[in-house]
Amino acid sequence: MTKLRVGLLFGGRSGEHEVSINSARAIAKALSAEQNTSKYEILPFYIQKDGRTLAGEAPQKVLGSGIPLLESQESSSGGHLISNPQTQTLNQWQSPSQVAEVDVWFPILHGPNGEDGTIQGLLTLMQVPFVGSGVLGSAMGMDKIAMKMAFEQAGLPQVKYKAITRGQVWSNPCVFPKLCDEIEATLGYPAFVKPANLGSSVGIAKVRSRPELEAALDNAASYDRRIIVEAGVVAREVECAVLGNDQPQASVVGEITYDSDFYDYETKYTDGKADLLIPARIPDAITRQIQDMSLQAFAAVDAAGLARVDFFYVEATQEVLINEINTLPGFTATSMYPQLWAHSGVPFPELVDRLIQLAVERHSPN
Ligand SMILES: Nc1ncnc2c1ncn2[C@@H]1O[C@H](COP(=O)(O)OP(=O)(O)OP(=O)(O)O)[C@@H](O)[C@H]1O
Ligand SMILES: [Mg+2]
Repeated sequence: MTKLRVGLLFGGRSGEHEVSINSARAIAKALSAEQNTSKYEILPFYIQKDGRTLAGEAPQKVLGSGIPLLESQESSSGGHLISNPQTQTLNQWQSPSQVAEVDVWFPILHGPNGEDGTIQGLLTLMQVPFVGSGVLGSAMGMDKIAMKMAFEQAGLPQVKYKAITRGQVWSNPCVFPKLCDEIEATLGYPAFVKPANLGSSVGIAKVRSRPELEAALDNAASYDRRIIVEAGVVAREVECAVLGNDQPQASVVGEITYDSDFYDYETKYTDGKADLLIPARIPDAITRQIQDMSLQAFAAVDAAGLARVDFFYVEATQEVLINEINTLPGFTATSMYPQLWAHSGVPFPELVDRLIQLAVERHSPN
C-alpha cells in the first residue's frame, strides 16, 4: 500500500506559535502510532514567527525539541527555506519539491493567518485536500462578529452584544461618549470588550466602569479594526467537540474550571491554573441540548472536519448560551478537543486518522 504523505503545517505568525508546535508534536506522534505508520508518512513544514516557511530537517528538529527556531538559526539547522515574508507568493510555495509531494495537508496553526481562512485559501488554490474548514468556515469562525451574526440567524441563544469599529472608538471626542452611553444602556456592567479577530483571550478585558470601558475599547482598537462588546454573564464554561463533514457528530461535553476572574491568557497557558473536567457535571438534558447546538453552530458557519464549540451554562436559570466556535482548536495531548473524543471512544491516533480521511472525502467530487 502506498503511504499518503501528510504535510503537517505548524508554527505560524500568531501569538499561539508555541501551542501550534505542541499540537503538531502530538499529531506527529499519533501519525507514528502503530495503526497509522503503514498508512501515512509525515512531511513537516514549519512557519517561523517572521512568516518564513521551512521544509526538510529544520521542522523535524522543532518537532523533536518542541522549541521554536529563531530566524537566525534556520540556515545552520539544515532547513530548506521555501518562502520569505517579503515575497511569499504562491509560486514559491509550489516550487519546492517538498510541497509538490504532499497528498493531504494537516494545517495545525492557531489564530490569525492560521485558522482565519488565509492559509485555507492558499491550500484550496493548490488543489490538494486539507484537514479542517475551508475559507468560509475558517473566516466565519475567526471573526467574533460574523460568527455571532451567523449564530443569530440560526436561532442560537447568546449574550447581548454590540459590534464596533476602530473608527468609532478613535472618532472625534463628541462621538465616543455617545458610543459609551449606548453600550452602558444596552449591555450594562460587567461587560467584555474583545478584538473580533484574535484568540487566546488576547486584548480581552472585563470592564466594570466607564473609565475601564474607555480604556478597554482603546486597547482593543489597537489590536483590531473590528471590536465586539458583550454583556457579561455569570456562568460555567462548557465545551463540545464536533467531528465530521456533512453528517458531523458531537462528543461528550467537558467543563473548564479555574479560580481567576475569567479564562484569560495567563489562566489558559499557565500549568495548573485551569482544570478540564470530562464529562461536565451537568444534567443529561443540558448535555443533549449542548450537543445539538454544537452541530447547529458547525453548520451555521459552514465548518468542516473539526471544531470545538464553547458555551456558557447559566446554572441559576438552566440557560445555555453559545460563546464561540473554534475551527482549529488546541490539539496538544492534553487539549480539550482530543480529550473530549478520547472520552467519547475515539482515541487520539484514530481521531487524526479520521480527520485525514474526512479531508480526502471532502476534496473528492461527490
Ligand atoms: N460575555 C461573557 N460573559 C462572561 N465571561 C466571558 C464573556 N465573554 C468572554 N468571557 C470570558 O473570557 C474568556 C475568553 O473569551 P472568548 O472565549 O470570547 O475569547 P477567546 O478565548 O480569546 O477566543 P478563542 O477561544 O478563539 O481563543 C471566556 O472563556 C470567558 O472566561
Ligand atoms: Mg474562548
